[in-house]
Amino acid sequence: MCGIIGYIGNENAVPIILEGLKKLEYRGYDSAGIAVMNKDGFAVAKQKGRLSALEAFIESHPLTGFAGIGHTRWATHGEPSDINSHPHLGSRNKIAIVHNGIIENYRQLKERLEQRGITFVSQTDSEVIAQLAEYYYNGDIMDTVIRVVNALEGSYALGIMSLDEPDKLIAVKKDNPLIIGVSEKGNFIASDVPAVLAHTNQVFYLNDKEIAVVTGDSVQFYNTDREPLQKTLETVTWSADSAEKGGYEHFMLKEIMEQPQILQDTINSALSGGDNKLIIDSLDINRFNKIVITACGSAYNAGMVAKYVFEPLCRLPVEVELASEFRYKDAIIDQNTLVILVSQSGETADTIAAMREAKRKGAVTLSIVNVVGSTIARETDYTLYTLAGPEIAVATTKAFSAQLVLLYILAVRFAAKRGRISPPKEKQLLAAIASLPGKVATLLKQTDSIQKYASTCVGYKSIFFIGRNIDYAIAMEGSLKLKEISYIHSEAYAGGELKHGTISLVEEDTLVVAISCCERLYDKINSNVEQVISRGAKVLFIGNCIKATPNEKLAIIELPEANELFSPSLSVIVLQLFSYYVAANKGLDIDKPRNLAKSVTVE
Ligand code: G6P
Repeated sequence: MCGIIGYIGNENAVPIILEGLKKLEYRGYDSAGIAVMNKDGFAVAKQKGRLSALEAFIESHPLTGFAGIGHTRWATHGEPSDINSHPHLGSRNKIAIVHNGIIENYRQLKERLEQRGITFVSQTDSEVIAQLAEYYYNGDIMDTVIRVVNALEGSYALGIMSLDEPDKLIAVKKDNPLIIGVSEKGNFIASDVPAVLAHTNQVFYLNDKEIAVVTGDSVQFYNTDREPLQKTLETVTWSADSAEKGGYEHFMLKEIMEQPQILQDTINSALSGGDNKLIIDSLDINRFNKIVITACGSAYNAGMVAKYVFEPLCRLPVEVELASEFRYKDAIIDQNTLVILVSQSGETADTIAAMREAKRKGAVTLSIVNVVGSTIARETDYTLYTLAGPEIAVATTKAFSAQLVLLYILAVRFAAKRGRISPPKEKQLLAAIASLPGKVATLLKQTDSIQKYASTCVGYKSIFFIGRNIDYAIAMEGSLKLKEISYIHSEAYAGGELKHGTISLVEEDTLVVAISCCERLYDKINSNVEQVISRGAKVLFIGNCIKATPNEKLAIIELPEANELFSPSLSVIVLQLFSYYVAANKGLDIDKPRNLAKSVTVE
């Protein structure tokens, strides 16, 4: 939530910051702003709405500067407006800041400053940082930042500039991500790696309360006692192209299409060598009597699928909890519990809190994360990486699929270590997982029928998704995907629950999407399908064991054959494409759905 970027070097900062903001727009798009330093002081431009509005404004009101900070906002305190946009300046226009996070004690700080005659102009919590910094400023920006940090409660990633010390940018963070990019033409601060990838793959990952002093040709780190810190410069393996659309209309479609390769890379890293394999091999599963999987959004749905894989294979109880609930429920966990945190970004505030709660209670933590160096990756006892590359579309696709295959592999390897499956069975299951990328590739060559069917679905007010067992778990992801990007109301139900309420919502021409990859339960889901059709519904039946014949009420999309346990990796492809094409036919902003942000770094 909210993206920040800063640049200082020997080029005009404005185009560099605008380009960086484009790469961060997935973090929020309620408004955007930029402040640069030049010989006349700060030059500031802010606009409500998408980044394109800021670009248009700058086109007609050009600005230049050798150092600057920019921000793309997901509003928390104060409505989206020009005035509430970042950067915020102190009332003497001496210090400018950009902020990602929430300052919990901003009211108290604001009152104190107002009592001293300082006038605030915005309704944001963030402005208090700029005002406080200016109030404390004594000619030494480092000293000022330390005092500010000591006064703030809450979460923050900050980029700070002082007019009196124009040769440096200051970066500091707590509970929100920040990286420092290093390049020949200058240095950067940014919320995330894609913002700097066009310029460098050399980055430092900032830890909480570490202060970076960034000049055009140096970066130095300090703690809040002003002691220098040594940090390691890391090389990012993501390519600059991976954060571009590559000819696709939307990142989401590009990311859907990348899935065969991503699955292949992630499976290889867990089975054929690589860090994931080393970690999976080293885990002593026999010490645990319970697994808890906790996550948010789609990552939670990946956990739901995983429960249906772990429990039959490992015969170990698996609880799946929303991280936002887990963190407050006084979970019954201890050192014999393995808590698995699943997160694309590794920065979701609720998942971080759940992780810390699990650690506090002595559980062993394992994360499945996409972003290297992210908070969850750094703080869990073990980390497995999904090799999905940068995911830009707000609605996850490729990272979700990569999470699934890592969870399958974990389940199979754990089952073998627990002696629940024989070596030949383990081999057979791993081969079934290894066959998934090819099957996904086959499915992705046949998008026409899904596209055609989706084009008939734009008018629905509500769409239900049903399945049984593992098909129910993946129906949850299908439903979430649809509502996220198409704004059509949708719910997922276990087929057997229909008659306990939901069926009362079924009427003439309601659409029900039914999933059927559990052959042993085919008759059950098929009778649900017949029940809703006989009440007037239309059904899109997706599966690989469907015996029904299509008719005007019933459309069928056949999936390749797959082991039931791993079939969600195929059904989800159709569900992703279905949502994508429904939203595309509605002409919606698919990569940036309203009110959502990709990385939810506030509670
Ligand atoms: C947001 C995104 C979802 C994602 C969820 C959890 O809601 O839009 O796509 O599943 O956050 O994010 P995480 O980074 O923890 O996987």
